[in-house]
Order: sequence, then structure tokens, then C-alpha cells
Amino acid sequence: MSKKYKNSAQESWSGRFNEPVDELVKRYTASVGFDYQLAEYDIKGSIAHAEMLATQQIISDEELLAIKQGLAQIKSEIQNGDFNWSLDYEDVHLNIEYRLTELIGDAGKKLHTARSRNDQVATDIRLYVRDQIDITVGLIHQFQTNLLNLAELHTSTVMPGLTHLQVAQPISFAHHLMAYFEMTKRDVERLQDINKRVNQLPLGSGALAGTTFNIDRLHVAKALGFNGVCENSLDAVSDRDFAIEFCMAAALLMTHLSRFSEELILWMSPQFNYIEIADRFCTGSSMMPQKKNPDVPELVRGKTGRINGHVVALLTLMKGQPLAYNKDNQEDKEPLFDTAQTVRDTLLVFADMLNGISVNKDAMYAATAKGFATATDLADHLVRKGLPFREAHEVVAKAVNLASQKNCDISALSIKELQLICPLIDNKMIGLLSLEKALESRNHIGGTGSKSVKIAISTAREWIES
Ligand code: ARG
Repeated sequence: MSKKYKNSAQESWSGRFNEPVDELVKRYTASVGFDYQLAEYDIKGSIAHAEMLATQQIISDEELLAIKQGLAQIKSEIQNGDFNWSLDYEDVHLNIEYRLTELIGDAGKKLHTARSRNDQVATDIRLYVRDQIDITVGLIHQFQTNLLNLAELHTSTVMPGLTHLQVAQPISFAHHLMAYFEMTKRDVERLQDINKRVNQLPLGSGALAGTTFNIDRLHVAKALGFNGVCENSLDAVSDRDFAIEFCMAAALLMTHLSRFSEELILWMSPQFNYIEIADRFCTGSSMMPQKKNPDVPELVRGKTGRINGHVVALLTLMKGQPLAYNKDNQEDKEPLFDTAQTVRDTLLVFADMLNGISVNKDAMYAATAKGFATATDLADHLVRKGLPFREAHEVVAKAVNLASQKNCDISALSIKELQLICPLIDNKMIGLLSLEKALESRNHIGGTGSKSVKIAISTAREWIES
């Protein structure tokens, strides 16, 4: 929606004031510069409110008709960029109400019967967050689908699994990717859970204490698709915990994407050389001709900090407020809107980028082969021969020590050398030490074996579809 400002007229609440608001104060207190983004929800909420007022015979059917026609026209003016947003009318609510009255006369002035901007704005934000939850979940599903497509190609691609950024045990690249499926699955579940608390109707709470009119809140809730109504009018107009929860869930989602980004950045560096990211997601350096920089994952990592900042801003905004509504709450919108937008853009670009990743299997394999990644497997074989695990651990540590002195893998040590360390070690055992075997001997639920990972991928696909 585009914005045009005009200057004119009196504020809708100026009856008790003796001088106009100072120009700087007007600019300082106005929110229309950003809350115009709530316009579609504001109109939706107003229509449901007006219909209820007519059903309850608080306004007439003719007035309802005029209000609906006026709001429809305003909606199209906004969509076409023809609406004159004015700082004189402070926020989205008053701008729309002023225009409505301009279009339909006195009926426009009746729309605000049994309503305050306090319950109106709370309703608008809830409708906005509800939509953002749906959109975000849809985008996570797209990200996950692309992730699964990549994982499917790599259920037997060996890479080093790391702890402390040191080679630990062999895993498949698919298994590694699937960790991010699990994380983002929880992100979806978190958002859906939050929606239960978001999807409650504040309208009817008035400024803070309800209204003297015979309203029907359930009627409005149903019309707007809310699951229920906020049960306390003071709480309904003042708390923004639902928006904070959304931003917190967004921060966790971004944290997951940031960790993934960090790995992509490392894997793409020549030192790792595990992957290539398609050129369209990278940029070069203006000075160093050889450079190809992973800008997209770096920005995902960077923007995560910005979302964390929004969470802190919102918590700080709330913490000192006495009941009920305070103008502080107007500051909830920019962090919320920016969070939603940043998460949407991040998911879109990340999902695309996943399609542009190519894998250097040889480099992954070579890195795994270098790190004594099968040491635990050798210890496990000795345990099967009757050695207690702690002793097996020590024996293998000695073998690793010897191999690293000789700059070779354990499997390259002679059977004589190994049996000197522990007579229980035999040739068969060493034959079982390949990286592929290490993967395939972990085919339990949650393990890295290709059978398990294939099942995990198809279960994941079913979950997305469900
Ligand atoms: N623009 C205001 C906000 O975003 C709307 C509510 C104003 N209410 C009031 N009593 N001044 O919170």
C-alpha cells in the first residue's frame, strides 16, 4: 500500500482541548507512518463490529449498509494507492474513520459506538499476527521440502560429524541436514501453539472496562474467525504477550537458521571445501578478484541479532506498564512488523538457496577419513569381546596415539602393533572399521544409518503434508 500525506482538520478527540497539538508532538505521537500496514485488518474488524451493532439494534440496517459500502471504497482506495494518509489523524484507525465520515456522513461517526481504539488496535494486531503465523508456517514447509530434496540425494554421503568442531564420528550429510528439519519442525509446532493464545478477540473491552451497550462479543469473534474472546477487558487492551511470543518463536527460528548459515559459511570456505553455493546467492569483492562471499548466510546470521533485539525491545516495552492501555504500546508495531518481514524474507531466500547447493563428496569423505572417526566403533567391538567400555576406551586411545605419531589411520596400523596394545583386537575387527560400515551400523531410530535416515525423510514428508 502506498502512502500520501495531507495536512488538515481537527483531531477526533480534540473536544476538551484549547489549542492544537504542537507540530513536533504530532509527528512524535503519530503511528500512521507504520501502522497503515494494519489497514486491511482494521477494516475487517470494523465490518464485524458494525454488523454486530446492527444485529443488536445499536445502529440501523441503513447505517450498516452505508458503513460497509464506505469501508469497501476505502479498502480499494488503499489498495490502489489513492488513500490520503494524514498525520493529522494520527494512526490507521482515525485515518480510516475520518475518511469514512467524509464519504458517508453521520453513519461513519456511529461506527465507533461501543468501541475504543484500545480494543480496536489489539484486535488488529491479533489478526495480523494470526496471518503472519500462517504465512511463516507455509514458508517453513517450503524450506523443509527443499531441505528434504537435498537430504534425499545424500543418505550415503559420508561427512565428519563434529563435536567441539573436532572430528567425532562419521555421519551422512543427509543426517546432518535432517537435524535442521527437526529444529524447524519444532518451530512450526511452537508457532501453532502460540496461535491458540493469539486467536482470542479483544473487541468489546472498550477503552479498558467494557461498554454500557448490549454488545454480542461472541458474534464478532465468530465473524472474525477467533476461537474465543479475551476474558478480561483490562488484560485484553493492555497485554502484548501474544506478539512477544511470536517474536520469541521467530528468534528461535532465526537462531536455527543462523546455526545452519554458520555451517554453510564454513563448508563453503576453501579450508573445508565441502559445498558450493550457486553464484546467484553470493557476491564478489571489489578489491580481491578471487573472492566469492557467502553473503546470504552471513546476512541470515546477522539478521538473527536484529530479531533478538526486537524481542528485548518488546519485553522492555511491557515490563513497566501499569494496567491498562498506555501509549507505550504503540511502540509494539515496528519491532513486530520488522520481525515478521525479516523472517519471511529469510525463509524465502534460504529455501531457494538450498536448491543452489552442490556437494563435494570427496572432500567430505577425505575429511572424515583423517580424523580417527571410527575410534568409538573399535571400542564398541572390544566391548562385544567382553572388555568393559572404560577399558576399551583407553585401549583405542592408545591406538589413536600410535596412529597419529605414525601419521596414519588406525586401520593402517599392523595387526601386530594393535595386538601389542590389546590382544583382543583381531583382523576382522579392523576390517569392520570403514566409514561406510560405521554409518550402516547405526540404523536405529534417530541414527545416521541410511535406512534410518530414509525413513526419517519419508516421515518428514508425511508430516509436512498432514
Ligand atoms: N495508535 C495507537 C496504538 O498503536 C492506537 C490506540 C490509541 N489509544 C489511545 N488511547 N490513544 O496503540
